[in-house]
Amino acid sequence: MRILVIGSGGREHALLKGLAADPATSDLHVTPGNAGMSDLATVHADAGKVDDGAAMVALARRIETDLVVIGPEIPLVAGVADDLREAGFRVFGPSGEAAQIEGSKKFAKEVMAQAGVKTARAEQLVPGTPEAEIEATLDRFGPTWVVKDDGLAGGKGVVVTPDRAAALEHVRAVHGLGNPVLLESFLNGPEVSLFCLVDGETVVPLLPAQDHKRAYDNDEGPNTGGMGAYTPLPWLPEEGVQRIVDEVCVPVAKEMVRRGTPYSGLLYAGIAWDADGPWVVEFNARFGDPETQPILALLETPLATLLDSVASGTLAEQPPLEWADAYALTVVLAAEDYPAAPRTGGVISGDVVTDPEKVLHAGTARNEAGELVSAGGRVLNIVGVGATLEDARDDAYATIGQITLEGSFYRNDIALPAVEGKISL
Ligand code: GLY
Repeated sequence: MRILVIGSGGREHALLKGLAADPATSDLHVTPGNAGMSDLATVHADAGKVDDGAAMVALARRIETDLVVIGPEIPLVAGVADDLREAGFRVFGPSGEAAQIEGSKKFAKEVMAQAGVKTARAEQLVPGTPEAEIEATLDRFGPTWVVKDDGLAGGKGVVVTPDRAAALEHVRAVHGLGNPVLLESFLNGPEVSLFCLVDGETVVPLLPAQDHKRAYDNDEGPNTGGMGAYTPLPWLPEEGVQRIVDEVCVPVAKEMVRRGTPYSGLLYAGIAWDADGPWVVEFNARFGDPETQPILALLETPLATLLDSVASGTLAEQPPLEWADAYALTVVLAAEDYPAAPRTGGVISGDVVTDPEKVLHAGTARNEAGELVSAGGRVLNIVGVGATLEDARDDAYATIGQITLEGSFYRNDIALPAVEGKISL
């Protein structure tokens, strides 16, 4: 099977590694890719923008691919999966209409209301709302304000703050971008990222993971795309995954079918687990980054066959998923000044950076001298695996110590609260 992956991050590097390990894969291609991917796939760096459907169809035709796997949300929301399907390709990824579950938080709320899924109370403020109405709406929320950019923000458009003035400032900033704002009640409780393969009404969960979204240790600093993640979750009740599937993902999948926009691809349920169980924080229409990196490190089921079964509508016929009996963890190495204004072009060194068992690339490129350099905010994903979560942590942090990139930083406490038994429900 010839496979084209669209995307360039650590998530796509993990997908390529998983796809390459499946004997059903004959040939791998990626666009636009990054500097770490050329050992696994042919990199098409200049095939056009990933949300340009015509360019992606042209590439798929040129390489005569059998399956296209779309990683990021931007091409999904732009309807690139539809363009590829219309051109006759099998695609892993939802249609543009179904991807609105991520593209519009208002749409996601409507689907949840119809499906009877528990989620935060929300109100939308469109650009141009009079100041007095913005103030009055803010007064209906708090003492912790959750202010979301109701457009595509890659997980970075959310401000959670006890400071009303900071909440108001973010409302103004999002309106300044021309996007609506969603104000939400604050959901208390540890977060779970549950990824489900969805093919119509068939829902197959992967292992549950937890992301660390703040930039610095102890959940301090600005929100990021994610600074590290681990799986599985020792603190989640035994029936936790099944409850999220039954109470969230299956009702949503059925509601999408009922609306005439069946879901096909990966549905990412961002959950807060409180005393009543799972509440939805958000949905994404794609694999999460960086949670995918540790999850796929433990998946033993051949990945290409699995994703192709979703693309061809035969997921229900697949055998149960098989997983390594272990823990896995990813630590993100970020560029100086990420997420505000990441410094690019810094030289990365350390022999381990070419070992995809330990290091997956995100924002990397080669400079004119052929050196590996940083080219984005999240630069590398260091993956650790072990019999215990502590062992997985030791593995990842031993690797990160072998890498240098001037000014870069990483969190030291990925999975630490779980290891120390500090997460309570
Ligand atoms: N880990 C957060 C995201 O993928 O949006």
